[in-house]
Amino acid sequence: MKKIILSVCALALILFLFMGKKMERQGITKHLPTDYKQFVIGHRGARPMVPENTLSAFKYAKEHGVKMVELDVMLTADKIPVVFHDETLKRMARNPARIDELTFEELQKIELPAGERVPSFDAVVKLLKELDLSVNVEIKPSKPEFAKITAQKAWECIKANDFADHVFVSSFEWDSLFEFKKLAPSIKRGVLVEDVSPDWRETAKKLEAFSINYDANLLTPALIEEIHSLGYKILVWTVNDKKVANTLFEQGIFAIFSDEPDILGE
Ligand code: G3P
Ligand code: MG
Repeated sequence: MKKIILSVCALALILFLFMGKKMERQGITKHLPTDYKQFVIGHRGARPMVPENTLSAFKYAKEHGVKMVELDVMLTADKIPVVFHDETLKRMARNPARIDELTFEELQKIELPAGERVPSFDAVVKLLKELDLSVNVEIKPSKPEFAKITAQKAWECIKANDFADHVFVSSFEWDSLFEFKKLAPSIKRGVLVEDVSPDWRETAKKLEAFSINYDANLLTPALIEEIHSLGYKILVWTVNDKKVANTLFEQGIFAIFSDEPDILGE
C-alpha cells in the first residue's frame, strides 16, 4: 500500500513539474509571464512623444514602465537590418529615397525628427538587452522578394546578441514567418492580418502560431470567438483609447499595441 501511495505521489510530482514547464512556455517571450490582465505593447516604442522606432523611443518606453515594445525591421541596400516602418523616408525625413536603395552609411546621413537617425537593428537589440525589455520584432520586408532574407538577417542579429528569450516575432509577409520558424522554432509567432490578407487560418495552423494579430478596425466579436476557439491569442493594433482598450480586454484580448503604452498600461 505504502508503495502505491509513494508511486502516486511521485507521479503527481512529475505531472506537476511537467505542467509547470508547460506553463512556463506559455509566455509570449520566455522573459515575460502571461498573467497580465491588461497587457499593452509599445507600438514602435512610444510614438507621439519621441520619434518612432528610434533608440530614444525604446528608452522612453522603458522609463515609463512598458514591458514590451514593438518595432519594424527591414533591410538597407547593403542588407543591413534597420528599424524603420516605411519603405521610403518621405514621412519621417521628407525625402523620397527608398530604404532598400540606400546603403546603411548613406542612410545615416539622413536626419529624422529631433536629430535622430534610423538605427541598425543590432544597435536596438543591444539597447533592449541593456534595458531588459521584451520585443515584438515585426519583420517588414520592403519588397515581398526580401521576405526570407529579412527574416534571416534579423535572426542572425538576435542570435549574435543572445537575445532570443526576449523576442516574439510577427509579420504581414507570411513567408518571413515560415523562414523564422525554420531558423528559430522556439520563438513564438504572430500572424499579422490585414483586410487584403488571404485566409489566415491555414497559415496560422501551418505556422503553429501563438497569436493572430489583427487591426482594431476590422476585428468583430464573431472573429474574436473564432480565433479563440482555434486556440490562438489575439493581439490588436493600434489602440490609443482607454475605453476601446477596456472593451477589448473584457473580450479576452491578450494584448494591444498602443502608441501611448505609458498611459494605457496598468
Ligand atoms: O504589429 C502591429 C502593427 O505594428 C502592424 O502595423 O503598419 O504599424 O507595422 P504597422
Ligand atoms: Mg509594426
